[in-house]
Amino acid sequence: MMQTSALHGPRTRPLQAVLDEAAAAALRAPSVLNTQPWRWIVHERSLDLRADPTRRLTALDPEGRMLTVSCGAALDHALIALRVEGYPARVELLPDPHDPELLATIHPAAYRPAAAEDYWRYQTTLRRHTDRRPFGPDPVTEDQIAGLARAAFAHGVHLHVVETHQVPVLAAVAASAARTELADPAERAELNRWAHREPGAATGLPVDVTVPGTPRPVPLRPYAEDVEGRLEAGPGDDSGARYLILWGHQDGRRAWLRAGQALSAVLLTAAELGLGTSPMTDLVEVASTRLVLRRLLYWQGHPYVVLRIGVAAADLGVPGAHRLAHDEVVDVDRTSS
Ligand SMILES: Cc1cc2nc3c(=O)[nH]c(=O)nc-3n(C[C@H](O)[C@H](O)[C@H](O)COP(=O)(O)O)c2cc1C
Repeated sequence: MMQTSALHGPRTRPLQAVLDEAAAAALRAPSVLNTQPWRWIVHERSLDLRADPTRRLTALDPEGRMLTVSCGAALDHALIALRVEGYPARVELLPDPHDPELLATIHPAAYRPAAAEDYWRYQTTLRRHTDRRPFGPDPVTEDQIAGLARAAFAHGVHLHVVETHQVPVLAAVAASAARTELADPAERAELNRWAHREPGAATGLPVDVTVPGTPRPVPLRPYAEDVEGRLEAGPGDDSGARYLILWGHQDGRRAWLRAGQALSAVLLTAAELGLGTSPMTDLVEVASTRLVLRRLLYWQGHPYVVLRIGVAAADLGVPGAHRLAHDEVVDVDRTSS
């Protein structure tokens, strides 16, 4: 549907229908604990991205840092879908200071046929998923890392590759972040509420996308101490994994939206390069470990997301978490049509 309509030119469907489809395509975006904390309002000639406070992690993410990064990723996904339909767009971030839940408004520009890379990128949004299994020994090349850095920097976000001598510190930081969140009853309850869902759940993490605890150089977020993920870890040991920190000079909602756009671009670029990815953001959520990450960045700026990347140890495919239905997150403004 998305692939062919642009070929028919700009006048085959009203712009509002195209915007509606772009909002639907953004459902594929990654989000913290698969909360999908967004709402789309489809106007006749513009598209509003709003934060949905009902799917906010009030204990784990009281400032809305990860909520906003997730919404930035959804924004990037919507813009990809619009480009493939032939509509590059102008974006206003945080357009109304009196309406903090309004995170962005997308204004499509004049019709312009999509380029081949727009189609590729759109296709990648359909197949990308988080892979929490340990990666294999095959190395991530410097060229691949340079490609990921370019993808982030297109959104003004920098990428720090955690140096070999920093990996033990990162491991200690990951263990500390996990301990801190699980020790807090409210945070622990929130993790339990959003993780360990039955396969097929529309929000949260189903048990079939998380792996049981397995030895690796840097431990992954455990989600809870007493429930194990059901996805088989496979033969990998993360020996070829690299760890990236997306960072920037600002720390605030505008910066977090840009970080989300950059995260989306990096995840999709990685998928196109044949690399697996899994974000590790408990290290950023916890204030004390966030501070240590700043040290790993040599105090140059603020960490937004930590990302584990690598080459899958076996060609097993990546199972994905499910998503809400279109009508649960998209409102069409009929007054404007
Ligand atoms: C801002 C953000 C933070 C995330 N943090 C983590 C994390 O700490 N650990 C993890 O395993 N996955 C993390 N993820 C991945 C999400 O859980 C994942 O995107 C979501 O469950 C949807 O699944 P999918 O990426 O497979 O489509 C994060 C994603 C985003 C966008």
